[in-house]
Amino acid sequence: MNPFLAVDHLSKNYPGSAQERSALKDISFYAEKGEFLALRGSSGAGKTSLLKLISGIEQASSGFIRIGETFLHALNESQRAQFRAKTIGFAFQLFDLLEDLTVAENVALPLILLGQTRQAALKEAEAMLERFTILNLAKASPETLSGGEMQRVSLARALIHKPALLLADEPTGSLDTFDAEQALNLLAETREGTGLTILLVTHSARAAAYADRVLTLKEGRLVYGKSGVMHA
Ligand SMILES: Nc1ncnc2c1ncn2[C@@H]1O[C@H](COP(=O)(O)OP(=O)(O)O)[C@@H](O)[C@H]1O
Ligand SMILES: [Mg+2]
Repeated sequence: MNPFLAVDHLSKNYPGSAQERSALKDISFYAEKGEFLALRGSSGAGKTSLLKLISGIEQASSGFIRIGETFLHALNESQRAQFRAKTIGFAFQLFDLLEDLTVAENVALPLILLGQTRQAALKEAEAMLERFTILNLAKASPETLSGGEMQRVSLARALIHKPALLLADEPTGSLDTFDAEQALNLLAETREGTGLTILLVTHSARAAAYADRVLTLKEGRLVYGKSGVMHA
């Protein structure tokens, strides 16, 4: 078995003034290509830390992460940034759209950063917006959008470069039920069409219900049920 994402005995300590803070303790799990995992756990459990390590933004204190054929610890910082830009899409609760750019320009940005021409990138961005049924917003400024619209733009931007892995940190946390379901349906559809692997941090049982498996973090450790199966 050679799963797409492998996390093996991963630990993360943050240096502190008084003592080191241990955010993740000996985490091991895997995800197959095209699998949708939800990651749950209360505030401070280590969810964001885990996404930062998998994205290569932060480095592990020990253990390793393999994405596809790539071991993150074998890359230097600029190689990690390149790998991230190509392979990973991000979506956050705070959508983090740039207000000086139009919606289409925001969505096109990852492609431009990967070296595509502005014109080609904008064309792909518009196709993506159409697929997400918000092409009418292409020229709008992000600050004029509703929360649900912003999240769709944010997902379009996260997926425009066809990443193999989507890391989403509570992307539906600030949305009402209807908008949250729309966003989750877009993710589910994208996965069907592309084999995208998804790791979604969520507090919502409804959102977790979209996942194939649920991982639960508690105080930096993965929690398992009595049967050895991970908790739902
Ligand atoms: N940059 C950092 N420096 C020091 N401690 C941090 C840092 N980031 C997170 N932590 C600590 O790591 C633990 C897990 O945080 P986090 O991963 O943000 O949890 P969650 O996303 O589940 O709420 C917390 O105790 C938090 O204070
Ligand atoms: Mg967090």
